[in-house]
Amino acid sequence: MEKRESFGSGFGVLVAMAGSAVGLGNLWRFPYLVGTNGGAAFIIIYLAFVFLLALPIMYSEFIVGRRSQANVFGAYKVLAPKTGWCNVGLVYVMASLFIISFYCVVGGWTINYFWKSVTFRFTTADTAVLGDMFNNTVTSNSEPLIFMLIFLIATALIVMAGIKDGIERYTKVMMPILFVIVVVVAVRSVTLPGSAAGLEFLFKPDFSLVTGKTLLDALGQAFFSLSIGCGTIMTYGSYVSKKENIAGLSAQTAMTDTLFAIIAGLAIMPAVFAFGISPSEGPGLVFVTLPYIFAQLPFGAFLAILFFFMLFIAAITSSISQLEVIVSYLIEEFRMSRKLAITLSVSVITVFGVLCSLSQGTLADVKIFGYNFFDFFDTTSANILLPLGGFFAVIFVGWKMKRPDVVDEFTSGGMRKYSRFFLNFSYYSIKYLAPIVVAVVLISGLI
Ligand code: PHE
Repeated sequence: MEKRESFGSGFGVLVAMAGSAVGLGNLWRFPYLVGTNGGAAFIIIYLAFVFLLALPIMYSEFIVGRRSQANVFGAYKVLAPKTGWCNVGLVYVMASLFIISFYCVVGGWTINYFWKSVTFRFTTADTAVLGDMFNNTVTSNSEPLIFMLIFLIATALIVMAGIKDGIERYTKVMMPILFVIVVVVAVRSVTLPGSAAGLEFLFKPDFSLVTGKTLLDALGQAFFSLSIGCGTIMTYGSYVSKKENIAGLSAQTAMTDTLFAIIAGLAIMPAVFAFGISPSEGPGLVFVTLPYIFAQLPFGAFLAILFFFMLFIAAITSSISQLEVIVSYLIEEFRMSRKLAITLSVSVITVFGVLCSLSQGTLADVKIFGYNFFDFFDTTSANILLPLGGFFAVIFVGWKMKRPDVVDEFTSGGMRKYSRFFLNFSYYSIKYLAPIVVAVVLISGLI
């Protein structure tokens, strides 16, 4: 078996975790879910879930991963030998597989839009034209498949290069640049004439619109955006040295991710209202709105190029974390080489990805449980598999592991000194708070 990888530095770990968390979930999925779920009420519920669940679940995944130093399946096997717990690892592998299967399609759209921006195709400020452009982009049979493949191959190459030289190196530089551009766009968006309705939509909640579906969507989005519940943090955690600070890394990741989501909301929604685009436009929302904003900004064409390039980077730092979950499982449990594991998983993902992509056009009428392929992979992973995965992680750490072991890992063998209050609070939120919240929302949402 190959030697286990590890991160080069604490900062590298943070960047990789934040890189995994910040991605299409913040800039593409969050704005359109806010739009289709009626705005501010959805945001508030989403924030509540982040606040209640992010830390306990991140801690738990981290603890399991770092203590076992193994892939998601092996981790449970190491910590609870001869029990059924390792099957939870399979939920993570499946969730990661489902996610990356539609994620690579949207990743392909971002490369496509990057290409469009480089060739100056966003000269028009006509939403109808931009809407058609998006539709043509995603419904075609060949173009999105090619871009999807480029995205997947790029992901595979970075995962091939491994953790330190692949993941750490690039993310460090790109994330801050992305942040600055999104802020610039947000400022323009908020200052557009007619943006007030968008701000109202973002900040004035109407709870009468909230249904079980809204709750479940908000829960799913919190999991999706934070990259929790599918073992990415567990897997990255297994490459992290014993001296790193679990509590600090988790909090910083959750904060960065939430900040990005809010600013993305501010970048998109006011413009959506100012330009008279429908907020419930769906997955095309960002791809129609942003080119429109860029067309109205000084140096907009140039900013568009930068933006779509960064969006691609943000997406790929997330997709590598999804692929790494699957690949590390195959390497360690089936004794495959990294290369074989990547080839095998990318082949399966390609098949699923093709189905997802074609479901935007040719295969639109093929339904599983009433969803087309894309929505099926998206909804089942975010709204069901991730909450389930997170639920199992907290139950395992809270109820199966012994408290002294949990505390030992959480405090890095006693190296980190925390107040008794903080330790108790963290422990009980793992043991009671998180599982109850997830179970209640999951059950009520599904019913
Ligand atoms: N959090 C990522 C994003 O917001 C998506 C993701 C989900 C990554 C699950 C890893 C695991 O884009």
